[in-house]
Amino acid sequence: MKNNIDLKVRPRRLRNSKILRSLVSETKLDLDDLVYPLFIKSGKKIKIEIDSMPGIYQFSKDTVLNEIEELLKLKINKFILFGIPKEKDDYGSDSFADDGVIQTALRDIKKRFPDVFLITDVCFCEFTSHGHCGITKNNSLDNDTTIEYLQKQVVSHAKAGADMVAPSGMVDGSVKYIRKALDTNGFSSLPILSYSVKFASSFYSPFRDAAESMPKYGNRKKYQMDFKNSRETIKEVQLDISEGADIVMVKPAMVYLDIIKNIKKIVNVPIAAYNVSGEYSMVKAAAKMGWINEDKIMNEILFSIKRAGADIIITYFAKDFAKTKLNEN
Ligand code: PBG
Repeated sequence: MKNNIDLKVRPRRLRNSKILRSLVSETKLDLDDLVYPLFIKSGKKIKIEIDSMPGIYQFSKDTVLNEIEELLKLKINKFILFGIPKEKDDYGSDSFADDGVIQTALRDIKKRFPDVFLITDVCFCEFTSHGHCGITKNNSLDNDTTIEYLQKQVVSHAKAGADMVAPSGMVDGSVKYIRKALDTNGFSSLPILSYSVKFASSFYSPFRDAAESMPKYGNRKKYQMDFKNSRETIKEVQLDISEGADIVMVKPAMVYLDIIKNIKKIVNVPIAAYNVSGEYSMVKAAAKMGWINEDKIMNEILFSIKRAGADIIITYFAKDFAKTKLNEN
């Protein structure tokens, strides 16, 4: 049958060549948008690959300097630091000690590389013997006591040279009292990136191998959010912003793009998304099986997070992204 085809609008016109696709692409993703996590373990000469996170290592504060030198060559200069102390106790004492694993690493890194940007994760789960994100009473996280210890921790990070602090424990009021502690100690210019929307997620399990932070009993559902909720995320971000958060974060990222998009409409501060360990490990595992094209899948995931509205992405893929520099148009 001969159709008299009469089409004015042909969306395919704009897909005709790579150069045109690039010209009209709505989302740009740059290395500058990415933050790379580093795990620092107390000790010397340590470089241990995490079984469940191929390509990601625990370093000691000496070996991490070589790693940062390599990362800087790839133009990765923004990091979030996680510490694994020599000794854990009920209060996570190493997390606020002047000679703690994070504080000494901060000083050593800043001394050698003054221009790198260092964010510290502010939490207790890697530092406490019970593995929970604060001080516990009767086997439950005690919110208000934890606040006092969070204040000690942030001030010690600030004194050691942190450029930004990132409270990740979902402790009510933490942003308010962290801001207060920073301000009264002369750090009113230090920004807070709050893990405002952090879901109780099974996507964190490889991280808990890397950071040795699996809770010894129970789970984190009494403080991290229920992943079935969306409206509640608005309450959390608005609260954190009112308490002084400079940047708010959604975590995990990949299966929470709806949340990122929603928050973007509501707030006027930058939004970060944490492309977490499980999201990384699934891609690595499937690639190892030869079932997917790792670089392309990585690219598609990172672009989707950006497209949803994230301004900043914390991702274990930063190094791979920098190396592959895919041009997908
Ligand atoms: C808490 C913290 C966690 C992650 C980042 N900060 C672990 C948790 O809440 O159990 C997870 C990040 C990831 O899975 O990559 N210190």
